[in-house]
Amino acid sequence: MSDSFNEFEDRKRDHIRLALDDSAQQLVRTGYSKIKLIHQALPEIDYADVSLRVKLLGHELASPHFVSSMTAGHQDSIKINRNLALAAAENGWLMGVGSQRRELTDPEAAFEWREIVATVPDLKLLSNIGVLEVLTQSPEKILELVVNLNAIGLIIHLNPLQEVFQNNKNLNFSGALAAIEKLVRQSHVPVLVKEVGFGINKDVTNNLFDIGVKAVDVSGFGGTHWAKIEALRQNEESIFYKSADAFADWGYSTVDCLLELQDQVLFHQIWASGGIRNGVDSAKCMALGARAVGIAQPLMKAAMVDAKDVSHAMREFDFQLKTALFCMGVKRCEELLHKKVWYGPVG
Ligand SMILES: Cc1cc2nc3c(=O)[nH]c(=O)nc-3n(C[C@H](O)[C@H](O)[C@H](O)COP(=O)(O)O)c2cc1C
Repeated sequence: MSDSFNEFEDRKRDHIRLALDDSAQQLVRTGYSKIKLIHQALPEIDYADVSLRVKLLGHELASPHFVSSMTAGHQDSIKINRNLALAAAENGWLMGVGSQRRELTDPEAAFEWREIVATVPDLKLLSNIGVLEVLTQSPEKILELVVNLNAIGLIIHLNPLQEVFQNNKNLNFSGALAAIEKLVRQSHVPVLVKEVGFGINKDVTNNLFDIGVKAVDVSGFGGTHWAKIEALRQNEESIFYKSADAFADWGYSTVDCLLELQDQVLFHQIWASGGIRNGVDSAKCMALGARAVGIAQPLMKAAMVDAKDVSHAMREFDFQLKTALFCMGVKRCEELLHKKVWYGPVG
């Protein structure tokens, strides 16, 4: 995947512009409406005692919400990541950064993180890289990305459909599981794996846990649609543009992934993202066993403005999740794993 500086900058700018446009969003979010949380008219708890505190990857955090990986390595990303970082530290959220691919070829690109790491010391960060880079680069090189960020973990994203629609020349995913395993063996931090909005099924999840991956973020269908984003960047006559509608409902919704993984959620770190648009969506994912819940597009919207807007959006997500826990009669997120607090699927 080699592209020029300008192509890279244009692509990243287009991604953000199109991600904020409704045409690349799944607006009818059927997955979440399948699940109903059980309302407790007599919760028998004090709202003040409801806590969102969780332990993720060995670290105490004020919220199970995290910033789902978005952007890095281009001119606009410096301000966006600073806004996300300040708000994440203020609210005790974990933050996944966007793909650090640029840093593999341009050492200057890591400069973006220096100021953030130095000035926002309480922030917990997760590195991010695509599986195609894991296949083509040495584990040592990939692990430098973690050092650049002083990250507490490394996320590998799986994005076959996006790569095809991006018209990438290298689409060889052969040997990906073995390459991830090699990286896991050498890594000094936990390795996590996510999709980018089309979900991860049970077989793939089992294989990933078997090779030592610490957490799988299913990142399912229901929110930002990466085949549409890539198609919208192309000429209207192109095969990609013309094919996007055929994939309009491709993939597993976040809720369907979690339903399929019910026999794993007690034993493994299953995380959720993809179409989470309020804290009740988060509560549904957690009731289905997700230990952490990631939000991408709504935070990008706020990060284009300032850190205050991001912080405001984060407080809304936390307030809605806390209120949902209270109305289920639940004081702690972990209790959701052991209590039947949802019914469905319906319809
Ligand atoms: C502008 C933007 C850039 C993204 N870039 C990355 C990325 O670099 N790496 C990654 O793993 N996921 C990336 N994603 C995918 C998100 O992390 C997430 O999996 C997906 O957007 C679904 O979440 P959402 O519906 O809340 O947007 C990006 C998402 C957005 C909106």
